[in-house]
Amino acid sequence: MSELLTLDDCENMTSDRVHELYRGHVSRSQVSLIGSFGFGRDLVDHAQGAWIHLRDGRRVLDFTGGVGVLNHGHNHPRILAARRRFQDARRMEVHKNYLSPYVAALGHNLAELLPGDLSISYFPNSGAEAVEGAVKLAYKYHRGRRGTILHTDISFHGKLLGAGTLTASPEIHFPYPRIPGADSFRYDDLDSFRLALERHTGSAGDSDVYAVIIEPFSASSLRECSPEFLREVRRLCTERDIVLIFDEVYTGWGKTGELFHFMHHPGLVPDIVTTSKSFGGGKASISGYISREPVFRAAYDNLSDATLHSTTYYGFGEETATALEAVNIAVEEDFPGRARALGRRLGEGLRDIAARHPKLVKRVDGRGALHGVFLDPGFRLPDRLRSALPIPLARDPQAMEKLLTGAVVGALYRDHDVLTFFGSNRAIALVVSPPLVTADDEADMFLKALDDVLARGATRLVTTLLKEKVGK
Ligand SMILES: Cc1ncc(COP(=O)(O)O)c(C=O)c1O
Repeated sequence: MSELLTLDDCENMTSDRVHELYRGHVSRSQVSLIGSFGFGRDLVDHAQGAWIHLRDGRRVLDFTGGVGVLNHGHNHPRILAARRRFQDARRMEVHKNYLSPYVAALGHNLAELLPGDLSISYFPNSGAEAVEGAVKLAYKYHRGRRGTILHTDISFHGKLLGAGTLTASPEIHFPYPRIPGADSFRYDDLDSFRLALERHTGSAGDSDVYAVIIEPFSASSLRECSPEFLREVRRLCTERDIVLIFDEVYTGWGKTGELFHFMHHPGLVPDIVTTSKSFGGGKASISGYISREPVFRAAYDNLSDATLHSTTYYGFGEETATALEAVNIAVEEDFPGRARALGRRLGEGLRDIAARHPKLVKRVDGRGALHGVFLDPGFRLPDRLRSALPIPLARDPQAMEKLLTGAVVGALYRDHDVLTFFGSNRAIALVVSPPLVTADDEADMFLKALDDVLARGATRLVTTLLKEKVGK
C-alpha cells in the first residue's frame, strides 16, 4: 500500500495530480467534461461572498450561485460562526435517542415563515431525498389506494430512481427502472393538466391520482407557471383530494423575490413544499419537506407508522444548526428584497443586451436572481466541422446552441473572470444565478462582460471554441 494522502497533501496538490487522481478514482469523463472549459485546470484556494479566489491569485466573480446553493454567498460569516459555535461546544451530531432542540427550532421557524398550515417538517440531506419523502408521504396519505402521480414535461426533481422517474428533463436520457404510475402534462398548460386528470379518473368520477408535483418556477428552464394555472391546479387538487407538491429545492430562500416562489401568489398553499440547496447556507447538505398538518397526521401520525420514513442523516446536529442560521439570515438580511433589486438591475441590463445583440440573443427569461439568456448563432456548422465534434455533440440537434453558449461561458471566464454555466433542460440557456449577496457593481461587471463577449459575434465565438477544442 502506498502512503495515504492527507489534508496537507490536498492543500498542496497540483492540478495535474488532481486530474490524475480523478481519472483513476473518480471519473475520467468528469475530467474531460470539466477540463473542456477553461476552469477545468484551475484549483480554488478559497471563496468569499460572490468571489472565488484561485490558487494562482486570480479572483473570479461567481455568477453560478453554486447552482442554487449559494444565496448566502460563499462562507457567509454568520454561517461560519454558527458552525464554529456548534463545534467549540462539542455539541452532538446524532440525535436518535434524544430529541434535538435544533430540529425542534427549525421545524418551528419553517411553520412560522410558511403560509397556512404548512407546519410539519422532515430534514434529510439532498433535494431528491426531499422529493421522494414528499412523494412517499402523499402515497401513504392515500393509504396506497391510488396509484398515479403527475409531473410536468420539463420537470427536474433529481436523479435518484424515484425523483428521476418524475424528471422529464433530457439530462436523464437513459431508461432507468421507474416507480410505477407516473404520467405527465405540459408545463403551465391547464388543458393538458385537465386531460391528465381525466386519463386517471374512473367511470364513477373517482381519481387514481395521489399526487401532483410541480416546480412553480422551473430553474432549469427559467420559466414560471402563471397564477391562473397554479390556482386552478390547486382548486382541482383540493376538489379531488390530490396531494399538491411544490418543488422549491432551487427557488427557496428568496431566489426569485419571495421567500418561496409560490409566495408570489397570496393564498396559494401547496400540501407539501420541498426545499434544499440554500437551506444549508452554502455549507450544510440539508433538505426538507414541509407538509400541511392534516396531510402529515393522516399519513404518519401513529406509533406503528412513525418510522416508515426515516434516514440515518435525518436532522444531523451541525447541519440543522446551520440551516437554522441560514433561514434567519435569509429573513433578517431580506433575501427576497435583495433578489427583487438584483432582478430589476439584471432584467433591465439583460434586456438591453438582447436589444443590442438581436442576432445572437433569442430571448431573456427569468425573475429575481435567476435569469436565462437563450442564445442561437443563426447558422449551422458545415459538415466538415460537424464531423470533427465529439459524437454525442455531432448528433445533437441543439449542438449549435450548446457550442455558442459554451463559447460564451468560456470567454466570460477566460477574458472577464466571471464564472457562469449553462442549463441543459429542453432549451439551452446561459444561466444567470448570482448569490443574493452580489453587489450592484458586481452585477454591472457581469453585464458589461456579457455585452463585450457577445459583441464578438457568433462566428468568432464558435470558431474560437472549435479551434481550441477540435484543433480545426
Ligand atoms: C427543482 C429541483 N428539485 C430537485 C433537485 C434535486 O436536488 P439534489 O441534486 O440535491 O438531489 C434539484 C437539483 O438541482 C432541483 O433543482
